Amino acid sequence: MHTGPCQRYVFAGPRAGAMLRFGPTVVKGVVDSFIHLTNARGSAFNCLLRGRIAKHLEGISSHVPESSVSTIGFIGGTGPEGRGLAVRFAAAGHNVVIGSRDASRAVEAADEVKIILSEVSDAADVRGALNADAASASDIVFIVVPYAGMMRSLEQLSSSLAGKICVNVISPLSFAGGIPAAAPPEIGSAAEEAAQYTPDLRWVAGLHTLSARDLLKPTSSLDTDAIICGDDDDAKLTVSALLSEVPGLRPVDAGSLQSARYLEGATALLININKRYKSHASLTIAGLNVG
Ligand SMILES: NC(=O)c1ccc[n+]([C@@H]2O[C@H](COP(=O)([O-])OP(=O)(O)OC[C@H]3O[C@@H](n4cnc5c(N)ncnc54)[C@H](OP(=O)(O)O)[C@@H]3O)[C@@H](O)[C@H]2O)c1
Repeated sequence: MHTGPCQRYVFAGPRAGAMLRFGPTVVKGVVDSFIHLTNARGSAFNCLLRGRIAKHLEGISSHVPESSVSTIGFIGGTGPEGRGLAVRFAAAGHNVVIGSRDASRAVEAADEVKIILSEVSDAADVRGALNADAASASDIVFIVVPYAGMMRSLEQLSSSLAGKICVNVISPLSFAGGIPAAAPPEIGSAAEEAAQYTPDLRWVAGLHTLSARDLLKPTSSLDTDAIICGDDDDAKLTVSALLSEVPGLRPVDAGSLQSARYLEGATALLININKRYKSHASLTIAGLNVG
């Protein structure tokens, strides 16, 4: 068993084992006991890894640099999905900026997030801002506008977002005849369309199977997978590390950005299942040898 300070850990490549990221240092391997890690903000993590990682941790754990991620922005963060993610990341100790097309709506949403957060934490820095300011102020930006507003938002914000890790959570859906269905653009997915339009952003897609309703209840553990995909491995590692700080979330890497077409469609699948069973089901991948 190992106990010690650590900034980030990440699971990736289910078959290959796990990868841990400590600032610039990436350690690959497997251990066979629980490890107990604490990030720079004092949040505790427990995780079970398989393989040889524990040996490496002994050598590097006490001189771990601060993570480069401190502020997280949400474009369209006034909606339930953005507010829900904001609650969870703020509860994990990150600064959060809720973006909106309207400054007063952004402030209102930030106040709502703070009220929800007060159930679990009183230390978070949560504020509202215009989308462009939220983008500029943040290390990682989540895009949580409806699909109908995606391209216009990117057109307006591309210079503020340039070079940043952007997580596309958008699921294009149709509700013809009251039946939720995936409604992808011709290229295959909203994520691929966004990446084609703005190749200078570091795109990751994911979290389509996390419902706002669950995210907005910070006293309940999520107990589900946060499935992501993308073509920028380093960006995926950073996003996975962030997600693994949220209690009850297990990041799962679904491969290239092309997998976004399945993740976006999975939102429709879950809505249909939840309608059928009057439930609040989420999606967890069985049989993975991680986390
Ligand atoms: N809700 C869920 O459980 C869930 C689950 C999985 C994925 N998603 C995806 O996450 C995204 C956000 O979901 P949501 O339910 O939070 O959406 P939402 O409430 O419909 O929209 C979020 C925010 O986007 C802004 N917005 C609305 N129309 C816009 C437009 N045409 N152009 C630019 N901004 C616009 C609005 O903010 P301002 O008016 O303040 O600018 C709005 O509050 C969606 O793409 C959805 O498919 C949601």
